Amino acid sequence: MSFTASTFQSVEWTGDDIRIIDQTFLPQKEVIISLTSVGQVWDAIKKLKVRGAPAIGIAGAYGLYLGVRDLHEGVFGTFYKECERVADYLNSSRPTAVNLSWALKRILGIIYSQKEKPISELKKLALQTAINIHEEDRRLCKAIGENGAERVPPNARILTHCNTGSLATGQYGTAFSVILHAHKQKKIKNVWVDETRPLLQGARLTTWELQKEEIPFTLNIDSAAAFLMQKGEVDLVITGADRITRNGDTANKIGTYSLAVLANAHDIPFYIAAPYSTIDMHLENGSDIEIEQREEDEITHFGSKRTAPKHISAYNPAFDITPNRLISAIITEKGVIEPDYREKFEKLFG
Ligand code: MRU
Repeated sequence: MSFTASTFQSVEWTGDDIRIIDQTFLPQKEVIISLTSVGQVWDAIKKLKVRGAPAIGIAGAYGLYLGVRDLHEGVFGTFYKECERVADYLNSSRPTAVNLSWALKRILGIIYSQKEKPISELKKLALQTAINIHEEDRRLCKAIGENGAERVPPNARILTHCNTGSLATGQYGTAFSVILHAHKQKKIKNVWVDETRPLLQGARLTTWELQKEEIPFTLNIDSAAAFLMQKGEVDLVITGADRITRNGDTANKIGTYSLAVLANAHDIPFYIAAPYSTIDMHLENGSDIEIEQREEDEITHFGSKRTAPKHISAYNPAFDITPNRLISAIITEKGVIEPDYREKFEKLFG
């Protein structure tokens, strides 16, 4: 794994184990860890060593293979039940990003559809599907970047939230890929990077990726976004997504909804960039999305130092939901989709 440019791959299948860059050490240290068991993959996803919707789908897919590769090759029914149990376990690590359950279901579906094959073959099929999901994500992210760059005006000042780059995907990123492609077209004047409280994915990870690609950027605290927009310093906002429902409502990192409200109040385009694997056609609208609640100590402490008094209650949702009416367009590998999302999603992804 080499990290000289932002277009690296943060998840790698070596043929025997999964290698990831442990994102909890960034930007101070570039630490590669090896995941050899399904328990380690669960832990890596839960603790955000690997994070970002498409990346956890990819890691989960390889994780499912790790969990089934040594299973007894007896009867199909027993084998498949075990596959489902491993998938359920992996899926319990983080609930909001649909890419994880989507990837696991895709592998289970393929195994089931080929159930007449020997179990040794089904195991190979599970691995091949994980590899396909990984390779496909790279292609999708590239296409998202190409499609989205068309919406970026010359000399653009773009505001983004959380981390949506190669770290969060198979490669290139989603919102980050749009920035990357627009940069190649020399259209980026500045990227405003929300620090993204409380785990600082913007300050720690997006800056690290932008710096590698030599894209001009400025880090800002999340609550400076309103002031920047008021001063006319932002031309467009673009973020990724963890789950988009049938009607276009979008779950993404906490603070995304505030940005969408602000962008609308200042008449600034607000874009979401995501591959089809993030679109959940089974859910009608955003109120159906489960929002992950994380530990209180992420906000009662700054790093390891306690900053809030003891014995208080704290509210720490990891994501929020942006209603479709605040989203100017959703950038996908199939093009830039404008409302009405339901009708267009049905046509394109139904
Ligand atoms: O909690 P995280 O860091 O996994 O949250 C990630 C995000 O919210 C990203 O914006 C989203 O997954 C899209 S990444 C391409």
